[in-house]
Amino acid sequence: MAYDFNTVIDRKNTNAIKFDLATVRGKPADVLPLWVADMDFPTAPEILSALHKKVSHGIFGYSVPDAGFYAAVKKWQKEEHDFDIDRPHIVLTPGVVFAISSAIRAFTSEGDSVIIQTPVYYPFKNMVVLNKRNLVTSSLFEKDGKWHIDFDDFEKKISENNVKLFILCSPHNPVGRVWTKEELSKISEICERHNVIVFADEIHNDFVIPPYKHTVFQTVSEYAAYNSIVSTSASKTFNLAGLQFSINFIKNPELKKRFRDAIDKTGYDEPSIMGLIATKAAYEHGKPWLLALKNHLAENLAFVRSFVAEKLPKARLIEPEGTYLLWLDFSAYGHTDSELDDIIVNKAKLWLDRGTMFGKEGEGYQRINIATPHSILKDALERLESVFGNR
Ligand SMILES: Cc1ncc(COP(=O)(O)O)c(C=O)c1O
Repeated sequence: MAYDFNTVIDRKNTNAIKFDLATVRGKPADVLPLWVADMDFPTAPEILSALHKKVSHGIFGYSVPDAGFYAAVKKWQKEEHDFDIDRPHIVLTPGVVFAISSAIRAFTSEGDSVIIQTPVYYPFKNMVVLNKRNLVTSSLFEKDGKWHIDFDDFEKKISENNVKLFILCSPHNPVGRVWTKEELSKISEICERHNVIVFADEIHNDFVIPPYKHTVFQTVSEYAAYNSIVSTSASKTFNLAGLQFSINFIKNPELKKRFRDAIDKTGYDEPSIMGLIATKAAYEHGKPWLLALKNHLAENLAFVRSFVAEKLPKARLIEPEGTYLLWLDFSAYGHTDSELDDIIVNKAKLWLDRGTMFGKEGEGYQRINIATPHSILKDALERLESVFGNR
């Protein structure tokens, strides 16, 4: 089947936070949004037809996953990520951020230290702070166009602050790294030395650009297998975020019980039926659509690469190893972070995510979401050219 990723579909006035919140968030009404991590494409037709079938049935009562759901999750993890998982290890949550917040409450107490590697997806920090835990950050650093972990700093911060939990972002949003098995093994060794539990947010796991390969954190060591939660979702991969559904893998029964208890206390019980149906259909039938989507994203990436080189030579694209979120460095233009954001929002009329939202290390950067039709991406880049092109 041929899939279409280039027709522009109007998302305005559809309750989309990407399109319908501009003025609420202080942006011009006519800003072009390439910020939040969802895509401007309908989900796979195979998923839509499963959802349509349920809509025709018309009854949306309390629901539970069936054996076919677990089989589909197991098969996807095995085939896509070489990860063996079984039904008893799976816990469902209404989103990965919900799972992060629950894990913080399950595995730490108020005042305990939780470490994150900044710059990183901003809800990590918010969940730690809102749950009244002590936020500890270890900065990633950029060298020769690639971001890295400072392992000495990471271990020092863990030991000095008696850290109990690490929230790992793998693949990493926004720096675009797909952590190697060696890097993840080193993380595991450090966490083992200091008894740190790891929450591995692997929501971007299906967007890895060859030759890079995603390694599931639980596969890197015995310690990682039994002292971590791996959290993922079909929501990024198949553009289902509004269905509020995510999947957690926990092999250690004691950790699972603590995590389950924390979830039970929130009052969340049965999963959303539409999330369940969409996820099952995605993992059973979504692969051809995903392959076509990845080709489209590769074309968009190639377009950005050559546009930046030719028309925005002072800007720097950090080559992504994964995700559909590009990390663009504008620091050579010499603006403060506020000036840069003002130019992009009010002059170029573009809504990207400013780098410092992810941490101070993001100074001079902006994150741009390329999961959009080619014509929208071209419009966005031309808006950047109009403000930075001749400089
Ligand atoms: C790293 C990361 N984790 C989690 C999420 C959101 O997950 P959910 O919508 O399931 O809470 C995002 C969305 O952009 C993300 O980039």
